Amino acid sequence: MDWGLKNRLSKIIKSDGRTVMLAVDHGYFLGPLSGLEVPAKTITPLIPYADSLMLTRGILRTSIPQDTDTPIVLRVSGGNSIVGKELSNEGITVSIEEAIRLNVSAMALSIYVGSEYEHQTLLNLSKLVNEGEKYGIPVLAVTAVGKEMGRGARYLSLASRIAAELGAHIVKTYYCEGFERVVKSCPVPIVIAGGKKIPEREAFKLAYNAIRKGACGVDMGRNIFQSEHPMAMIQAVREIVHENASVDEAFKLFNSLKGKRKGK
Ligand code: R5P
Repeated sequence: MDWGLKNRLSKIIKSDGRTVMLAVDHGYFLGPLSGLEVPAKTITPLIPYADSLMLTRGILRTSIPQDTDTPIVLRVSGGNSIVGKELSNEGITVSIEEAIRLNVSAMALSIYVGSEYEHQTLLNLSKLVNEGEKYGIPVLAVTAVGKEMGRGARYLSLASRIAAELGAHIVKTYYCEGFERVVKSCPVPIVIAGGKKIPEREAFKLAYNAIRKGACGVDMGRNIFQSEHPMAMIQAVREIVHENASVDEAFKLFNSLKGKRKGK
């Protein structure tokens, strides 16, 4: 790995080997989903607690202060929508020059293993890695799960390993039963998505289990920004990821912060 690429990666995955990424890229196919109707309003107070922000260039340009020190993981795949025919039909939406211009620390792209457009999305990943390697920009591959695909360890190991084999530097996948198998067979760091909004304590359990079983962190969205207390939520998740807090400790912290103004 070249110095520039390593340097960018080190901005995302901190010196303890862990990371709390804030995923706010959902609008690229979901539009103005709940909690992100006015992106700047939701994202701005959370920035100090995020190790990186995962978002699209549109939200970066319109809603994130230019003087932020928080590394940017730019979503560079898309071309589909929740009301369209096929979610897996994605292409690369951002050029490498644009990613450089936006000074991003990594680029993120979804692959859809087992879907109709598997081939296309895997070639998208390969192309992006080729471009990223030229300029020292790491690539995060998202193992997207279509309606027809399971979320079991067998499938997620397959998708994660393929992403790593094609050159992804970080893989984002889902937590599952037997998650340690997914981690063990994937030679690059794994972060987990939070998935649909679930009760706070359950989300802490998810993060805790994923970390305990080898994830290097979370790339969490809805369970933070759709919480009634997003700031308390992200701070409690940080305690799990960076301080090895237990589920009870995180929940206790969440409850103590949510009463305070900054925890709302
Ligand atoms: C899909 O919209 C994106 O890749 C999200 O970044 C990903 O699903 C993580 O967000 P959440 O924790 O809401 O699942």
